[in-house]
Amino acid sequence: MVTSPSTLIQDIREVTDLSNLGIEPGEIDILIGGPPCQVFSRVGIGKMKQLKWDIEKDHRNFLYKEYVRFLEYYQPLFFVMENVDNLANKKEVLSKIIAELEGCGYKVDYRVLDSSMFGVPQRRLRVFIVGAHERTDCDIEDAAFGVPVFPIQDNRKTVSVGEAISDLPELQPIKIPLKPKSTEPRQTDRPVTYRCNPESTYQEKMRERNGKTVWNHRCRAHNEKDLEIFGMLQQGGKYKDLPEEVMRYRVDIFDDKYKRLKWDAPSWTLTAHMSRDCLAYIHPWQNRSISVREAARIQSFPDDFVFYAPMTRMFELIGNSVPPLLAEEVAKPIVRLVREYNTRNV
Ligand SMILES: C[S@@+](CC[C@H](N)C(=O)[O-])C[C@H]1O[C@@H](n2cnc3c(N)ncnc32)[C@H](O)[C@@H]1O
Repeated sequence: MVTSPSTLIQDIREVTDLSNLGIEPGEIDILIGGPPCQVFSRVGIGKMKQLKWDIEKDHRNFLYKEYVRFLEYYQPLFFVMENVDNLANKKEVLSKIIAELEGCGYKVDYRVLDSSMFGVPQRRLRVFIVGAHERTDCDIEDAAFGVPVFPIQDNRKTVSVGEAISDLPELQPIKIPLKPKSTEPRQTDRPVTYRCNPESTYQEKMRERNGKTVWNHRCRAHNEKDLEIFGMLQQGGKYKDLPEEVMRYRVDIFDDKYKRLKWDAPSWTLTAHMSRDCLAYIHPWQNRSISVREAARIQSFPDDFVFYAPMTRMFELIGNSVPPLLAEEVAKPIVRLVREYNTRNV
């Protein structure tokens, strides 16, 4: 018998008896989740076609049903389900998912939101489906969206990559050693001193609760060929912009395999692919891919949020996450409504 677990690390499909988890239906205020989204992701669909993937057989395409199962059982006051924005283009699938969520007793609405409109230095489009249980009696518009409808018409100022990371110390590119017993210095994960005081409001915010040093400022090692290619790319440059003689991959499939970030603009979307390689996230002017801390900054994780994991896992966690600054904005109206509901129902 499991009693009130704080964390279950398990395949959700194996958690079959929800009455065994120590939480009763009706005890949860907000259910939050981001079921995997391979079938809806643009990257995923292309790859699936190439590999002749059988969508019906990939269980990850049906994990949203596990979310629905938890929702139906626990009947929280509100829920938030996040997914890739392409789901909003698949109207048939989206309507089916929404109908299942409504079937659990909820009023449901959704928005596609761009993180860069919420102070995150990254253009990242994601769909947020929000539900309010019928017993809350609240207007779904109030719950869902103190946040505006996309595309936002006003000219909000976005935060650039430079504003996000310029205070972090320079890192030397590391070459993958050709011989196994190389004397090349290895980067270890230890706190490093900032290069300077905060140079932007964003950096002040990221450092607000942190001391004088910062963790996770480590980047990947690269082979000589990659380092040479990095050197040829301008800011904003892609694989397809390279001279033909250095191209090793098919340009029609891998046109953006390598990309150098722009200093004066928000980053493009960070993805879990960073756990495989970070070639699409080359530092704007240093000849290396971004460090874990730089990725965390671009995703708006504050510096006192320290990652303890192998490097590949840290990149995966960051790429899969909802940027904290956006999560906060989505949560605000819901938290207010939960408080109001709980005050009315003491
Ligand atoms: C798109 S990511 C969303 C991550 C989420 N936004 C976060 O920051 O934790 C999907 C997540 O579902 C998890 N996942 C995939 N299959 C699962 C399963 N069968 N049971 C439980 N979790 C699963 C993955 O490990 C991954 O963390």
